[in-house]
Amino acid sequence: MQAISTEELSSFKEQCLRELEKASNLEMLEAVRVGLLGRKGAVTQRLHALGDLAPEQRRQAGAVLNAIKAELQEAIALRRAALEAQALQEKMREAALDVTLPGRGGGVGMLHPVRTTLWRISDYFVSRGFVMAEGPEVEDDFHNFAALNMPADHPARAMHDTFYLENGFVLRTHTSPVQIRYLESHGSPARIIAAGRVFRRDSDLTHTPMFHQVEGLVVDQQANMADLFGELEAFLRHFFEDVNLDVRFRPSYFPFTEPSAEVDVRCVACGGKGCRICKQSGWLEVLGCGMVHPNVLSHVGLCADRHQGYAFGLGVERLAMLVYAVSDLRAFYENDLLFLASFR
Ligand code: FA5
Ligand code: MG
Repeated sequence: MQAISTEELSSFKEQCLRELEKASNLEMLEAVRVGLLGRKGAVTQRLHALGDLAPEQRRQAGAVLNAIKAELQEAIALRRAALEAQALQEKMREAALDVTLPGRGGGVGMLHPVRTTLWRISDYFVSRGFVMAEGPEVEDDFHNFAALNMPADHPARAMHDTFYLENGFVLRTHTSPVQIRYLESHGSPARIIAAGRVFRRDSDLTHTPMFHQVEGLVVDQQANMADLFGELEAFLRHFFEDVNLDVRFRPSYFPFTEPSAEVDVRCVACGGKGCRICKQSGWLEVLGCGMVHPNVLSHVGLCADRHQGYAFGLGVERLAMLVYAVSDLRAFYENDLLFLASFR
């Protein structure tokens, strides 16, 4: 066989390297590698063919071919590393996550407007030195009625539209039973408020079957009607954020207070001209109050000669309705999210 010229070998090498360069991805590179260095590859075949040469030429050409093979192996390794890096970059670009995109939005919750109002009221009275007290929503007849000077068959029981349960229990119709429970356990002096749910068989523009009251009770040796009026007027002016708000104390009747009053504020919807909300009267009833009846004191074992006190009970929904200008009190409990979100 003929000797292999050096020029021929170096042009072979150039040709191999050009093929390598054309490999633009890992599969093509592998194909080129097999085509050059595989068992039947061009380089391998040339190495096999060396055996046909004369010993001197074989050594010379063999050295050159082996150098070419080594060079190609290194070039392939470099090319592979570059293509792998490129493939990784592409993969990362495809899987990229844009952390600046807005999220799906979890929908942040909020407090119910009646709850906010209830907390505003209790916070105010706590700041006035009243202590929070609690009682059960399922109440017995004694605490809801009898101890509050409403013995069985007392006509005032009819004012309450009571939900009766078995065994003489009721859903409490007001928060006043907490007065009894607190005085039973703590005695005098007392300065408490009790806030919570109450229940009546009632439903119209200004009544719902479940509503909230905040009860206040002060018992000591000198609590009097002037204190009561002053405390309530200051509260209502604070609550409606109007230092000149007109407040009216109107004689009324509750079995558990004597004398008793109901408290009206000048209608915040019409300013007193008369509208549907105030039933054309110009005034809105917001709470009931009075001096604790001596019979109530003696039911809890306090001597009415040495102790006296005042109490009040206000409707939270009624106040929320006025302060937020809601015309139908029942809207608070229809779970209309648009309505509720408008208080955000
Ligand atoms: C009472 O419940 C007395 N326990 C209040 C009281 C306490 C008087 C202490 C004296 C001393 P009355 O039934 O008027 O009173 O209810 C008080 C307030 O609850 C009312 O002024 C009104 O604002 C509110 N209210 C009454 N019924 C409902 C109802 N169905 N829905 C929403 N609010 C109501
Ligand atoms: Mg009333």
